Parts: sequence; C-alpha cells; structure tokens
Amino acid sequence: MKVLVIGNGGREHALAWKLNESKSVDKIYMARGNGGTEDFCENLDIDPKNIDKLLLFAEENKIDLTVVGPEDPLCMGIVDAFNEKNLKVFGPNKACARFEKSKEFTKKFLEKYSIPTAKYQSFENYEDAKNCLKDFSYPLVVKADGLCLGKGVIICQNEEEAIDALEKIFKDKIFGGEGNTVVIEEFLTGEEASVLCLVSNNRLFPLERAKDHKQIYDGDKGPNTGGVGTYSPVKASHDLEVNLEKIYKKIEDGLNKEKLNYSGILFVGFMIEEDKPKVLEFNVRFGDPETEVLMPRLDVDLFELLNKTIEGKLEKEDIKWKDETCLTVIMCSGGYPGSYEKGKEIEGLDQVDEDTIVFHNGTKRSDGKFYTNGGRVLSITSLGKNLEDAREKAYKNVEKIKFDKAYFRKDIGTK
Ligand code: AMP
Ligand code: GLY
Repeated sequence: MKVLVIGNGGREHALAWKLNESKSVDKIYMARGNGGTEDFCENLDIDPKNIDKLLLFAEENKIDLTVVGPEDPLCMGIVDAFNEKNLKVFGPNKACARFEKSKEFTKKFLEKYSIPTAKYQSFENYEDAKNCLKDFSYPLVVKADGLCLGKGVIICQNEEEAIDALEKIFKDKIFGGEGNTVVIEEFLTGEEASVLCLVSNNRLFPLERAKDHKQIYDGDKGPNTGGVGTYSPVKASHDLEVNLEKIYKKIEDGLNKEKLNYSGILFVGFMIEEDKPKVLEFNVRFGDPETEVLMPRLDVDLFELLNKTIEGKLEKEDIKWKDETCLTVIMCSGGYPGSYEKGKEIEGLDQVDEDTIVFHNGTKRSDGKFYTNGGRVLSITSLGKNLEDAREKAYKNVEKIKFDKAYFRKDIGTK
C-alpha cells in the first residue's frame, strides 16, 4: 500500500514512523517532510496547502491512504476534494474543520449542547466589543476568531490591555481577515489538559492522555509556544474521567444533531479545576508534540487504525497501548518563539541510544548533514518503565546532540 503524509513537522514524522511499522505499508511519500523523514520516506516538493497538486499526485500515483497533519489544508477542504475523487483520506471535512477555523463556531456549538466552557460574547466590530467590556471582569481573554498560528489569544489584565487588544485586531488587522470576528471570554483558572480523540462516524474514542508543556521556560514561565515537551500517559481521577465521558457524549450528540459527519482526530483542550473540565478549544488534527509520545506507545497497526476510523468501523478494542511511559524533550533554536536563526549544523544524531527516537520538527538535510530549519528542531523521545526512567533516557540523549544556540527546557515531566 502507498501512503501520503501531508506536513513537515515532528507530528508528521511520528505518524510516518508509525505507519512505516505497518506490514501493509510499502511506500510513504511526504509533502514536504523534513531532514528526518528522508530516511524512510520520499519527500515531495509540494506545499501542504496546494490541494490541486496534492490531489493530482495522489491520483497519478494511486495513493491508498492520505493522512493530513496540519489544520490549514483541512480548513481549506482537502478532505472534500479527495473524497470527490474517491481517494481515501484521514481527517475531517471542511464543514467539521470549522471547529478549528472559527472559535465563534465552536463556542456556539458548546453553548447549544450545554458543554461546559468559559462564558463568552462574539463581536464583528470594535465599538460593540469595546462597549461590552463592562460586562466582564478581569483578567479576560480576547480571541481572534480564525487561524492565527496559535497567536490569536490575548489575555488581558485590565481594560487598557483589552482595548489595546481590540484595536490591534479590529483596527490594525494584525491577524488580517482571521480577526474579522472577535470572541471575548471569561478567564478560566485550573490545570490545562488536552485529549486527542479518534472520531469514527461521529463516535469519539479518546486516546491516552499526553501532557504538553507550552511555555518556553522552566516552571511554565515565559511566552507560549507550540509545545516544547510532553509525556504520556497522564493519570486522571475517577471523578475527572466520569466528567470527561459526559462531555464526549454531549459532543457526539451535538455532531449528530447538527448532521455533521466527523471523521479524523478531534483535539479537545480543557481547563480542569477540582476535577471539573471546561472546554477551551477544539483542534481538528493531531497535536504537536503530543503525537510524538503517543505513536511510540501505540500498540496496534496505525494504517489499520486509520482505515477503520475512516470506514466508520472503529471499536474501543482496536486501540491498544504499551504500558511504558514516553517522554519527549524538544530542542529549539535559541530565540524561539521569537525570532531565531536557521541553518545551524546539527551534530551527534548518530550517537543516540537505540531506545530513543529522534523525531525531526524542523530540519533540512544537505550532503548527508543535518541543519536546523525551524523554531522547534528535534523531539528527543524515549520510552521507559516509568516517567523518571523515560525522562532520564531522553535527557541523556539530549546531551549528545549539539547545534549552535540550542535551547531546551530542563524540567519536562518533573511537575
Ligand atoms: P487556545 O488557542 O484557545 O487554546 O488558547 C491558547 C491558550 O490560551 C490556551 O492553551 C490557554 O493557555 C489560554 N487560554 C485560552 N482561553 C482561555 C481562557 N478562557 N481562560 C484562561 N486561559 C485561556
Ligand atoms: N500542542 C498543541 C497543539 O498541537 O495545538
């Protein structure tokens, strides 16, 4: 079987790595892939957003399964385009991808189906939004409705900051058309957690939990990033599990009542206080770096799992996990999530232990050498008998890898 994986990051490297284990998979193409995926895939020079070109490639090369990593092509309707040509593709269609494309769409859905979430109002112009600030207490959260590369959320401590945020979005258009609608919502406190669910014919199958580390500095300090470390599994209390189950049921009910036909991954971001979860956001794709720790723990054939999901035939027994803990530390370019340099030579990748996997987030290969090519560069990923063991192994291997201005958190998995 021939598989096409769309995307360039560590998430896509991890998906391709797991697909490569499948006895059914003979060949993997990546669009575009990275320095790491070149080892076992054929990297294609096709932009993940160029749906026409991807479609043509899949038709001409008789691709048996296409797996879409990032949200952009999903929101643009890549799944609908592939389905029209009877090409098998993993991911939600355009109507369902609105759960990531529009925060207002998601908030309306959550409200309609009584799913716990922060109180909110949405606005289409500056004046209305400004006039309503008095209805909120501080801190509050201002969110641009659309896709803003994870930067569309502004937490405001007082009215001055809120007005500044509204001006930047509505007047200065810092997010362009993605900020034409703004959601203002109540600030929630608690512990953040995310659950990735496989969704097969509107039925949710939560995967084991992974804990992301979003802030750039140790102790969860500094600006938010895409995620710079993670581990799995994460234990949950009985009460929390019961409350999460109730939310999954309500989501399923809502999908059916709205006559949506969801297939793929639904990534649910929660804020949890005293075992009571509230939904912060939905994403319509695998998480990065969550996927880097879930794939090594997955104890079934990913190709079969994705096919069953698409066919609407997935059952709980189809998803099995290894008992081991998996932890990943992301090595970043110094300066990330602000500005950083690219093109630094990476050394030591050939020294890594056998029980450690290095997924590439942003690298390039040239004449057999590896170079940095992004803010997040490498995910050093180890399986261990418990969290301490996995952490020790991952950090031991991080020390072997060198590039100029490399930065990583020292406290992944210590909380
Ligand atoms: P989102 O893109 O909606 O996940 O928001 C990005 C980050 O902003 C989240 O991971 C939270 O850390 C924070 N955030 C978003 N909404 C809220 C909220 N209502 N209360 C507190 N923090 C929030
Ligand atoms: N790690 C968070 C995300 O993928 O959105």
